[in-house]
Amino acid sequence: MTMQYKPFLDALPRDLVSASDYARYAQQHLPESIYEYVVGGGGDEITLNRNRQKLDEILIQPSVLKDCTKGGTHTQCLGETFRHPLLLAPVAFHKLAHPMGELATCEAADLLETGVIVSTLASQTIEDIASKTLQPKWFQLYIQQNREFTLKLVKRAEKAGYSKLVVTVDAPLHGIRNRAQRAGFVLPDGIEAVNLTDRPPLPRQSFAPSQSVVFQGMMSEAPTWDDIAWLQTQTTLPIILKGILSVGDALKATQMGVAGIVVSNHGGRTLDCLPSSIEMLPLIRQAVGPEYPILFDGGIERGTDIFKALALGANLVCLGRPQLYALSVAGALGVAHLLRVLREEFEVTMSLAGTPTIDEITSDSLILGLNK
Ligand code: FNR
Ligand code: LAC
Repeated sequence: MTMQYKPFLDALPRDLVSASDYARYAQQHLPESIYEYVVGGGGDEITLNRNRQKLDEILIQPSVLKDCTKGGTHTQCLGETFRHPLLLAPVAFHKLAHPMGELATCEAADLLETGVIVSTLASQTIEDIASKTLQPKWFQLYIQQNREFTLKLVKRAEKAGYSKLVVTVDAPLHGIRNRAQRAGFVLPDGIEAVNLTDRPPLPRQSFAPSQSVVFQGMMSEAPTWDDIAWLQTQTTLPIILKGILSVGDALKATQMGVAGIVVSNHGGRTLDCLPSSIEMLPLIRQAVGPEYPILFDGGIERGTDIFKALALGANLVCLGRPQLYALSVAGALGVAHLLRVLREEFEVTMSLAGTPTIDEITSDSLILGLNK
């Protein structure tokens, strides 16, 4: 199959004003199987749905008549300054949404002063993306079966100017992606993980009937904590673990000197029946203490969502699917518009909640437990 792109909008219709509007438009703009791959989750999508449900249940505690004239969204994390606390999460294969792929997304991110985390499975080279991207840019690493090849990727990222390594640890194999399967999703011709094309071939495996294709097969080379310790000795870049959803794993990360974590369930795309990431966030924040850098993702669609995640302990918040929706609808213009909308929604939320600076957003800014 070759990719057929629908015409991209070059003017924005008046009913396209929010991230969920982009999701609606994306359904018209993407071929069905690609839309289903992007929008879908693992198993019965219990975790995917719970990510949104639990965000919706949280209520904001407003405080009126505050002086907001000195308000702003600037924030610091891991030694870098961010114009606002929203980053683009690593998402594979942006060419599924637009022929310019990650280059278009990053152009928009730059315009809106938004940090980006570039996926190992990007459909443009990490060098080309880096040369187009001025904002804080971090590289998401999928540890490869071959250590030399993993190291090659890391060295390329260092050389290209990525300032952090975000090592994804929750997806050593795909979840059960029935929705993408039912829709017959396959990567179209010409769209591939271009940064992995020189990956050494995997050894041929054959299995005795008593062996498992999961445990002795796919999982036999899956990374472990030892690989994280090894990686720490191989790179000067701070390492962040993405896909932490338990207090125990978060504490282990701090004990190992890992620089930070992303509290995430991979947008509900790996193991189903996990808790939502917003449920785990405050528990993890409490365990690791107030200073440890925590990023968050899962279900972010509104400025109020960004606010809620910060109030529950995140330092930065990442946006997954909506970036591809906007890209598929209107290319770089769409992504820039989406980021602008989210930035403005977030500023409006801060103002109306009476918390004009990031530091003022705390758990006191929420009403917890009212829905129980
Ligand atoms: C992802 N995600 C992901 N994560 C990662 O570490 N490396 C990757 O290559 C990808 N690829 C990817 C592709 C697609 C199509 C989606 C939807 C997601 C997960 C992503 O970084 C993030 O954790 C979730 O998307 C966050 O949830 P929301 O914002 O999509 O609800
Ligand atoms: C996904 C992989 C690419 O979520 O991380 O589809």
